[in-house]
Amino acid sequence: MRIVSGIQPTGNLHLGNYLGAIRNWVRMQDEWTAQGHDCLFFLADLHAISMPHDPAGLRANTREMVAALVSCGIDPDKSILFNQAQVPAHAEMQWLLNGTARMGWLNRMTQWKDKAGKNREGASVALFTYPVLQAADVLLYQATHVPVGEDQKQHLELARDVAQKFNNDFGSEDAPVFTLPDPIIPPEAARIMSLRDGSAKMSKSDPSDMSRINLTDDADAIMQKVKKAKTDPEPLPATIEGLEGRAEARNLVGIFAAMAGVTPAEVLVQFEGKGFGAFKPALGELLVETLSPMATRYRELREDIEALDAILCKGALKARDLAAPTLARTYEALGLVRG
Ligand code: TYM
Repeated sequence: MRIVSGIQPTGNLHLGNYLGAIRNWVRMQDEWTAQGHDCLFFLADLHAISMPHDPAGLRANTREMVAALVSCGIDPDKSILFNQAQVPAHAEMQWLLNGTARMGWLNRMTQWKDKAGKNREGASVALFTYPVLQAADVLLYQATHVPVGEDQKQHLELARDVAQKFNNDFGSEDAPVFTLPDPIIPPEAARIMSLRDGSAKMSKSDPSDMSRINLTDDADAIMQKVKKAKTDPEPLPATIEGLEGRAEARNLVGIFAAMAGVTPAEVLVQFEGKGFGAFKPALGELLVETLSPMATRYRELREDIEALDAILCKGALKARDLAAPTLARTYEALGLVRG
């Protein structure tokens, strides 16, 4: 069994990343490495160049994301923490899988449709083939489990399709080349929504910083963002059915539940009949309590660039070793002569 997952170093780590993915990474790391399984977590810097970007910003964000992950509990002595650019096997494997992935599969990806918008002709080729690189990321290590938020489910299904077709075309039934990976999606926090719009996911690319809680926000900023979060004038209902059609209210209740480690129904038992004037300060305090120690640690860690680079180098060396056998086998299966 092997866990692999990634995050783009394209800005701050926000509450959606934390509740949707990173918290699960930390839990799985602690449980699985104790049983001798490998956990690989990487910065998807090669994915980050699929959109227009500033090289100096990417360089800084890469280091900052390492600091953020470590401050959330990713332990570089337990997990293998690295960035794609230092493990060339990711880019190589993508090319090898490009022969298997179908244009039609990629055309159906909702992220491609959303990010390219109406300007498909002007979108980068990397944005279109992005899911093939994501398939390479996990298949390269024979990942069995991939902890992600709901928005990555479709990309993981594509990785399974690529693996299955490659195994059919170039493997044999008793010796498949690739393992089919299973996505692990948290039930309560699969999709954390924007604080300004309950129909849009919380995202780094939202131009409004008020739409998200960042790991780097101080207590005042968190309380302010929660206070200003969009809601409705109704009090909280007794049951979750009563949240139907109230996307913003449902999102805040979901965040409270995920942070407190209870179900949304249990949150409503506590707050039934109360307005947001009472609920929001309680939610703000809960967020500050959990996120503040991480933010403090993050501010210390981000200063030591050498230590952050050393973490990435050490992780990359281990990742290269783990990637090598599957990469060699893939070249071999395709009939590519390498001496
Ligand atoms: P990225 O960088 O957008 O997000 C990192 C992780 O955070 C989750 N996430 C959310 N979960 C719940 N609610 C939200 N609002 C929210 N926003 C983000 C994402 O689902 C993800 O798990 N393509 C990936 C990175 C990637 C990857 C991979 C992931 C590259 N290769 C291989 C897994 C395996 C991405 O852009 O995630």
